[in-house]
Amino acid sequence: MATLAEAARMDMPAFTRIPHPAPTPPEARRALLADPGFGKVFSDHMVRIVWREGEGWGDAEIGPRGPIMLDPAAAVLHYAQEIFEGLKAYRLADGGTALFRPEANAARFNASARRLAMPELPEALFIGAIRELVAADGEWFPPVDGGSLYLRPFMFASEAFLGVRPAKEYTFLVIASPAGNYFKSGAPAVSIWVSEDYTRAAPGGTGAAKCGGNYAASLVPQAEAIARGHDQVVFLDAAERRWIEELGGMNVFFAFADGSLMTPPLSGTILPGITRESLLALARDEGLTVREERYGIDQWRGDAASGKLLEAFACGTAAVVTSIGKVASAEGEFTIGSGGPGQLTQRLRQRLVAIQRGEAPDPHGWVVRIG
Ligand code: PLP
Ligand code: COI
Repeated sequence: MATLAEAARMDMPAFTRIPHPAPTPPEARRALLADPGFGKVFSDHMVRIVWREGEGWGDAEIGPRGPIMLDPAAAVLHYAQEIFEGLKAYRLADGGTALFRPEANAARFNASARRLAMPELPEALFIGAIRELVAADGEWFPPVDGGSLYLRPFMFASEAFLGVRPAKEYTFLVIASPAGNYFKSGAPAVSIWVSEDYTRAAPGGTGAAKCGGNYAASLVPQAEAIARGHDQVVFLDAAERRWIEELGGMNVFFAFADGSLMTPPLSGTILPGITRESLLALARDEGLTVREERYGIDQWRGDAASGKLLEAFACGTAAVVTSIGKVASAEGEFTIGSGGPGQLTQRLRQRLVAIQRGEAPDPHGWVVRIG
C-alpha cells in the first residue's frame, strides 16, 4: 500500500477551505446512508478550480456543495465540451481511507481532456482535490455491504461564448456520492440487450474518452434495454455492426471452457477501463491465458450454445464485476452457463474487492492510502 507521502509525491497545492454553514445533521445523514443506491445521495462538500486562458489553473477551493452559477451561453450547454471520471474511496478495516489507482483516473482524465480540446489538470491537483473532499466528507461512507464513497471529478467549458472553438475558461469540480450497489437488486447476474440500431462510438470519434456526450448517445438504446426488461445495453462496433465493444457504462469479458479469458481490445472506440486493466493483471497473476481480441455477436451466441463459453461479465468502477446471465437481441435470447453468477467471475470479483478494501496483499501497489 502506498503511503500518503508517496501519493502526494508532487507539491500539493494549498486548498482554500470554506466552512459549511449548515452541514447535514448526523441523524439525517445516517438515514441517507442506510440505503444509498447509486448516484442519488450527495455529501456536503465539493471542490472547485477554474482554468483561464493565459492564467492557467486558479485557486483550489473546497466548500459547501450546492448549485453552480452558469451563464446561459456557457459553451458546455451548447457544444457539450465536458469530461468526467468515476472512482471510489474505500473505508479500510483500521478506519483509514484509500483510493484504488487514482493516478490511472488522473491519466485518463487528461487523455479525455486532450481529445475534447481541454486543458490538462496536473495529477497532484486531481488527487489532491479528491483527498481534500474525502477528508471533509469522511462521515459519508455508507455502512452497507459493498459501500464506498463514489467520487465524480468533472470539467466543463464555462466560458460564455457561442462560437465553435475550444473555450477559454473551464471549471473543474469534484463531488462525492455515497454508493451501494449499482444494479438495483445487487444482481447476481444481469441481463443485457444487444443494440443493433444504435452504436456508441465510431473510429476517430470520442469512444475512448470519458465525455458526457458518449453517455447522452447511449440513453436511447439503454432505455430500450430497460423497456425490454434488461439491465444494460451492449454495443457493437459502428463499422461492421458485428464486434462486441462494451456496455453503456462497463467493459465486458468472456471466460471459456479452455480456461482462457478474453476482452475486446482497446481499439479507440471503447473506454480503457481501470477495472478491465486490473482484472487482466489479476487473471495473468493466476496463470490464466488472457486475450485481448475481437469477438463477434454470432460467435458469442454460438459459443454460449456449444458450451465453449462458460461465463461473461461486465466490469467497471460503479458495477465492480457482475456476471452476465442472459443476452437478448432482435434475433432472440441466449443464456450463458446456468444463467447465474459464474465461478471465475466471482473469484476475480472477490480478489479485486479484497485488494481495494485493504483485506488482501496488494502486489501491484494499486491502493493509495489517503487517511
Ligand atoms: N466503459 C464505460 C463506457 C464506462 O463508463 C466505464 C465506467 O467508468 C467503464 C467502461 C469502466 O471503467 P472503469 O473500470 O475505469 O470504471
Ligand atoms: C463508473 O463506473 O464510474 C461510471 O462512470 C459508469 C457510469 C455510472 C457512468
